Amino acid sequence: MTSIYEVIKEDHRTHRDLMKRIAGTEGDSPERRKAWDAFYHEVKSHAAAEEETFYSKLISKTWGQDAARHSVHEHKELDDLMDELNEMDMSSPGWLNKFHKLEHDYNHHIDEEEDEVFTRAQEEIDEGEIENFGDRFLARKAEERKLVEEKLADHLED
Ligand SMILES: [Fe+2]
Ligand SMILES: [Fe+2]
Repeated sequence: MTSIYEVIKEDHRTHRDLMKRIAGTEGDSPERRKAWDAFYHEVKSHAAAEEETFYSKLISKTWGQDAARHSVHEHKELDDLMDELNEMDMSSPGWLNKFHKLEHDYNHHIDEEEDEVFTRAQEEIDEGEIENFGDRFLARKAEERKLVEEKLADHLED
């Protein structure tokens, strides 16, 4: 049984590594494309799975509603930034500038999740109430990954 907190933190470590990798790439290179693609799919499916498992649990608690709404709102902002980057020319100087904004905002988001939201959730939610959520998160994320790819394919056809 994997704890949802550990599963999410493990993902965040991957996201931090990918952001460092992307920041070290230049122009429209295969390295940048590969790392960006991995990051885009990872973070989109992670955020959706987080909302459907962890945050839907949090929102069922009176104290958790504001925290959950705040995080979901940030997901939307990050999502928009990622879509803008996805449509921009990777070799333009504006791409890296926008990426640095995303990097800054996303680091803030995941630090806040780990340091504030999880700490409170661990104090307030009984372990038994959330014990299978790590597995549920992983299952949802796999489903969401397929949806991210479908949406992207639809979008490219338009
Ligand atoms: Fe999140
Ligand atoms: Fe997260």
